[in-house]
Amino acid sequence: ICEVTRVAEILAVGEALERALALLQGGDVVAIPTETVYGLAGDATNGIGVARIFEAKGRPRFNPLIAHVADMAMAERIAVFDPLSRKLAQAFWPGPLTLVLPQRPGNGIHPLVTAGLDTIALRMPRGFGGDLIAKLGRPLAAPSANSSGKISATTAQAVMADLGDSIRLVVDGGATPVGLESTIVKAEGERLRLLRPGGVAAEDIEAVVGAELLRGHKAGIEAPGMLASHYAPGAAVRLNAGNVEEGEALLAFGDRRAEGWRRAVASLNLSVSGDLREAASNLFAYMQELDRSGARTIAVETIPFDGLGEAINDRLSRAAAPRDNIQPTP
Ligand code: TXA
Ligand code: MG
Repeated sequence: ICEVTRVAEILAVGEALERALALLQGGDVVAIPTETVYGLAGDATNGIGVARIFEAKGRPRFNPLIAHVADMAMAERIAVFDPLSRKLAQAFWPGPLTLVLPQRPGNGIHPLVTAGLDTIALRMPRGFGGDLIAKLGRPLAAPSANSSGKISATTAQAVMADLGDSIRLVVDGGATPVGLESTIVKAEGERLRLLRPGGVAAEDIEAVVGAELLRGHKAGIEAPGMLASHYAPGAAVRLNAGNVEEGEALLAFGDRRAEGWRRAVASLNLSVSGDLREAASNLFAYMQELDRSGARTIAVETIPFDGLGEAINDRLSRAAAPRDNIQPTP
C-alpha cells in the first residue's frame, strides 16, 4: 500500500484569502502569519476543525488554545471584560497581547478550544489574521504552527518543513515581525497576573495599568499548558470500563455495547464509527453533560491510543486521577 503524502500549498498573503476561507469553512486548518509567530488556525466554533489542529500538531495533550478575534465587538460576544482587561485591549490590540477572561455563556466557542475551562484566552492579531477572521465572521483558534515539542515557526518555510505534509495551506506573510509568542495576562481581582512573558514587555503593561504585574503561578495552577487547571468532573471517572455498574453514567466509544449498558444513568457515545477526530471534538462537552446527569461515576470505555487517541487518553487519565493528588505537569 502506498501512502500519498499531502504537501501543503503555499500562497502569499495577497492571494490567499479566498482559499483560506474555503478551507476554514469546510472545517479544515490553515497556517497563517501573525505578528508574533505563525499560527495553525481553525474555526473556533467547529469541533472537527479544532480537533484537526491538535491532530496536525501531534499534540499528546489538549492544551487550551488562544481564540483570535477581528474586533472588540467579537471579543465582547465571547468573553466578559473587567475594566483592567478592557484598558489593556484598548492599549495593545491589535497586537501581541493575550487576555484570559471569563467566557460568556452561549458564545459558540467549541469546548475543545478551552479544554473545558470556563475562561478563554483572547487575542486580536494584526494583518492577514485579522482580515481573515473579519471575512469569516467567526473567531479562529490557533496555537503556534509547529508540531508538538518543536519551537514556534516564524517563517512560512519553517511551517512547510515541519507541518507541510499534514496540512493543505500555508499562507506566506514573510518573517513574523515580533518573532516570539504573545504575552498572556489574566485579571485577578484588582491585579493582573503575567501567565506568559511574550511580545509585549511586562513594563509596558505595568505602565498602562499603573501597577506591578503578579508573577509566578497561583498555587501551581493557571500556568499556561498546565493541565491541572483543566476541567475535572464532579463525578469520579472509571477508565477502560467493559461494563456499567449501578449508578454509573457511560461514555462509550465505537459500536460495541458495554455489558450492562441499560443500567447507565446517562449514556453518550464519543464516536459510534470509532473516529478519533469526532471523539476529540465531543470529549469535553460529553464529560460535562454526563457530569450533569448526577451519576456518581462516569464509566469510560477503552479508547485506542493512536492519533488523537493519545490526547484523549491523557485527558481522561487526568480526569480519573485522585483529586487531591493532581500534579501540574510542565
Ligand atoms: O503569539 C501567540 O500567542 C501565538 C499566535 C499563533 O497567536 N499562539 C500561541 O498559542 O502561542 P499556543 O497554543 O502555542 O499557546 C497558548 C498558551 C498556552 O500555553 C495555553 O496553556 C495558554 O495559552 N492558555 C490558553 N487558554 C488559557 C486559559 N483559559 N487560561 C490560561 N492559559 C491559557
Ligand atoms: Mg506553542
